[in-house]
Amino acid sequence: MARLKCAVLISGRGSNLQALLEACAEPAFPAEIVAVVSNRADAGGLERASAAGIATRVIDHREYEGRDAFDAALDSVLREMGSEFICLAGFMRLLGSAFVAAWSDRILNIHPSLLPAFKGLDSHEQALAAGVRLSGCTVHFVRAELDDGPIVVQAVVPIHPDDNAERLAARVLEAEHRCYPLALRLVAEGRARIDGARVVLDDAPGAKGVMINPESG
Ligand code: GRF
Repeated sequence: MARLKCAVLISGRGSNLQALLEACAEPAFPAEIVAVVSNRADAGGLERASAAGIATRVIDHREYEGRDAFDAALDSVLREMGSEFICLAGFMRLLGSAFVAAWSDRILNIHPSLLPAFKGLDSHEQALAAGVRLSGCTVHFVRAELDDGPIVVQAVVPIHPDDNAERLAARVLEAEHRCYPLALRLVAEGRARIDGARVVLDDAPGAKGVMINPESG
């Protein structure tokens, strides 16, 4: 079985990267990580990648004049490193529409809310302010609009009356670490087919895990 060659893009601590590294360390997993790229030299995730023996690169966005130049540099590094697919994992740069088109249907992102609710920054603060009883996380294909695109996996997490953003974030993060490897597996196995704005999953056994209920979160 040919494994899908993925690059993971990060800007920070890289706990979702860690979850993907651990999943990909399993020889039967249908994807492998061939590159970890950060726009920040101080991203903690770079050390996680190095510890796992994965090639890393830093592309500092401040060294480029505008988004197009940064995106072009990123594109050439990803191709040079043999990437076929991209997982955004806490990557804090918006990718331009030309880049997204060039990697059409080959980019996943994880967002810490039940999209389409609470897009953008501070999703936990947004959820608490809205008084919703449930939150969660979403793994979706990337479109040019922020936090938009066909949804592959979501997990639901309860919000407790005494929650603050930090406690909620920690609970959601545990769910993120289960969802991202599952979503990548479904995509890499060709079991997540994009149909317009939606993803249609086949009925293979592992697909049952695509909605994780509150009790398990
Ligand atoms: C996660 O909450 C992810 O959903 C969001 O950014 C955070 C990254 O955390 N996009 P980590 O770097 O993976 O620990």
